[in-house]
Amino acid sequence: MTTTVRESAAADGGVHDLAVRTTGLRMRYGQRDVLDGLDLEIRRGELFGLLGPNGAGKSTTIEILEGYRRRSAGEVEVLGQDPERDDPSWRARIGIVLQSSRDHGRWRVGELLDHFAGYYAEPFDPAELLRTVGLSAQADQQTAKLSGGQRRRLDVAMGIIGRPELLFLDEPTTGFDPEARRDFHELIRGLRDVGGMTIVLTTHDMTEAQQLSDRIGILQAGRLTAVGTLDELAAAARARSEVRWTDHDGSPRRQLTADPSHAVWELHQQYGGPIPGLEVRRPTLEDTYLGMVSADLAESTANATATATATAIRTETP
Ligand SMILES: Nc1ncnc2c1ncn2[C@@H]1O[C@H](COP(=O)(O)OP(=O)(O)OP(=O)(O)O)[C@@H](O)[C@H]1O
Ligand SMILES: [Mg+2]
Repeated sequence: MTTTVRESAAADGGVHDLAVRTTGLRMRYGQRDVLDGLDLEIRRGELFGLLGPNGAGKSTTIEILEGYRRRSAGEVEVLGQDPERDDPSWRARIGIVLQSSRDHGRWRVGELLDHFAGYYAEPFDPAELLRTVGLSAQADQQTAKLSGGQRRRLDVAMGIIGRPELLFLDEPTTGFDPEARRDFHELIRGLRDVGGMTIVLTTHDMTEAQQLSDRIGILQAGRLTAVGTLDELAAAARARSEVRWTDHDGSPRRQLTADPSHAVWELHQQYGGPIPGLEVRRPTLEDTYLGMVSADLAESTANATATATATAIRTETP
């Protein structure tokens, strides 16, 4: 009987359950710590969404994990190895879609994918994968002549072709039209659910992150400020649900609450029966994310203002 990676990982338990582990990871550019002691754990078989504002350090983290960038300090283990060892057999177990594509402008799409398939022991069938990402019609086209979204689909195909155990996707759907986005989501779910692949995804599309992620980490200014499932994050952010209904006189009513079932119970008592036009909307990931990021921004702005005021006071003191 075959076991999927998910099943064997679950049976394993402990640290072998982890595809990625970083402890105190630091990345310093000049005088600035872009990653400031990052502790991150990604389990085998899960889809981990790494979110955060522009410049938070997401791409830097991914580039360190895949061995593309050398860290300044800290411990990193990816599929049981330090990425800086740069072992080719380890590398073959990892797939990468970088934020900005590496160029192969003169190659034709089909040739390029065939060529890359040759590096791996058990690649996907290149023609079939081209069909899956919707590029069959472009097989004979030079990659330099692809549109932005088509180029991104090719990047995704190249990241997946080697049937990796661990796949890094850094903003993979930038430039995708809605249909390509939907097909991509199906492809990714299939890779995780059927293939047991571990996937690390960064995106600024909160709907995408909400639909695909098993767990989410929020990176802000080089630190992981929250990690958990969607529900865990919503609870931590005290994100509120919205209860809407229609009053006796037909006017729309709305209440924000952390406890929607209690609010509905109260309304039920008040109306003595069914509540007209009742709708309950749970907080979306976007609500939770914006709540967390803007609260943090407000706090750091308040701190910066306090520091600036203190500095001004000091400057004025003779
Ligand atoms: N090679 C480099 N030299 C100096 N600073 C760099 C270098 N690469 C990245 N940085 C800085 O590190 C910080 C984190 O960049 P990074 O690309 O990891 O952010 P990100 O979270 O991926 O952002 P985005 O959402 O815009 O892709 C930024 O302030 C960036 O300017
Ligand atoms: Mg980035």
